[in-house]
Amino acid sequence: MERTFVMVKPDGVQRNLVGNIIACFEKKGLKIIGLKMMRIPRELAESHYGEHRDKPFFGPLVNYITSGPVVAMVLEGKDAVGTVREMMGATNPLKAAPGTIRATYGMDIGRNVVHGSDSPTSAEREINLFFRPEELVNYQRDVDRWIY
Ligand code: TYD
Ligand code: MG
Repeated sequence: MERTFVMVKPDGVQRNLVGNIIACFEKKGLKIIGLKMMRIPRELAESHYGEHRDKPFFGPLVNYITSGPVVAMVLEGKDAVGTVREMMGATNPLKAAPGTIRATYGMDIGRNVVHGSDSPTSAEREINLFFRPEELVNYQRDVDRWIY
């Protein structure tokens, strides 16, 4: 089973979409193994989005992601990274496939309501940035034999 880091961004929290977004992943069959609400410190935001440090949107991106609380989570499942990316849709909600989370809820690339790791390597890095090992919960779900 693979793990991925997912976050409801500040716009998603302010727009009362936390439940809807978590429900999408939960209904799909992904298992929540870590979950918390937090305000992202500036240094964490800069580190999380470090790959974009030299991009023109970096400053606004860090301001936005630190502008209010987020809901951070770790989801586990078969091909969890790719599954979440498919469910979120393209970065720009205007380009995201119909039915994806960003297409359904977003109007602007700078307010795309949800984050998901782009590779297993990124997932491991981001999980370690946001969660301490003891914050991740290992448990069995009976339903897994109906999902897999
Ligand atoms: P990126 O990692 O390219 O997208 P994704 O979130 O799909 O992995 O970019 C990180 C975030 O930066 C993205 O979710 C929204 C923001 N962003 C902009 O504001 N403008 C842009 O042109 C791009 C590419 C991203
Ligand atoms: Mg990315």
